Amino acid sequence: MSIHILLKNTAYHQIAPYVREVQYLSNPSAAFLVKTMRSLVVYYSRTGNTKAVGEEIARELGAKRDEIIDLKKRTGLRPIRWIIAGKDAWQRKLTKIKFGESPEEYDMIIVGTPVWAGKMTPAVRTYLTSHDLNGKNLGFFSTALRDSGKPFEEMEKLAPGASIIGTLGLRASEIRSGSYREKVRSFVKALRESTKTAAREA
Ligand SMILES: Cc1cc2nc3c(=O)[nH]c(=O)nc-3n(C[C@H](O)[C@H](O)[C@H](O)COP(=O)(O)O)c2cc1C
Repeated sequence: MSIHILLKNTAYHQIAPYVREVQYLSNPSAAFLVKTMRSLVVYYSRTGNTKAVGEEIARELGAKRDEIIDLKKRTGLRPIRWIIAGKDAWQRKLTKIKFGESPEEYDMIIVGTPVWAGKMTPAVRTYLTSHDLNGKNLGFFSTALRDSGKPFEEMEKLAPGASIIGTLGLRASEIRSGSYREKVRSFVKALRESTKTAAREA
């Protein structure tokens, strides 16, 4: 059974988190169903850059947002914790994490990480390792001083069976200057396009 609701003056991003299926009528005689994704943006952030990008993506996408907390203390005691963080990432260590949303309940999951020692953070490695994202539409984003795209290949390997629908690598300088917003808009547009195509083909 389907329920038809006519929404006027309602921006898509206001309703998107609550909508599972939308009936599009291309013309009165040919109705086809496009499955609208339930979307989640989830990220780890130590100093706020990745969080700022995650918030912007969630806003543009109309997605639910969730922050991964690393239960190992990563701030203070400079430079000791910084060195340990880099070493943990480099050695592909896992950690204990906390998060709010269950990604299994979403169709599209966009995962963000800062780059540490050229790799994803232990918190994001743990998150990807501990969830079965087979069959999900998955996007990645990362922030770094320069190596912003480096962790994507390995992140993809940790999510076998997922469709990778887009990646976005940003530099910390782009976040400081605000120029990341334009790139986020293009990224979200591309995510929408690729999920629309997938729904049409299904
Ligand atoms: C332990 C550690 C290692 C880092 N390693 C790299 C690196 O290999 N390449 C790089 O470009 N930036 C590196 N950075 C910089 C961060 O990726 C960058 O500042 C990022 O935007 C921080 O994100 P956040 O504010 O969300 O924590 C490193 C930062 C830390 C704390």
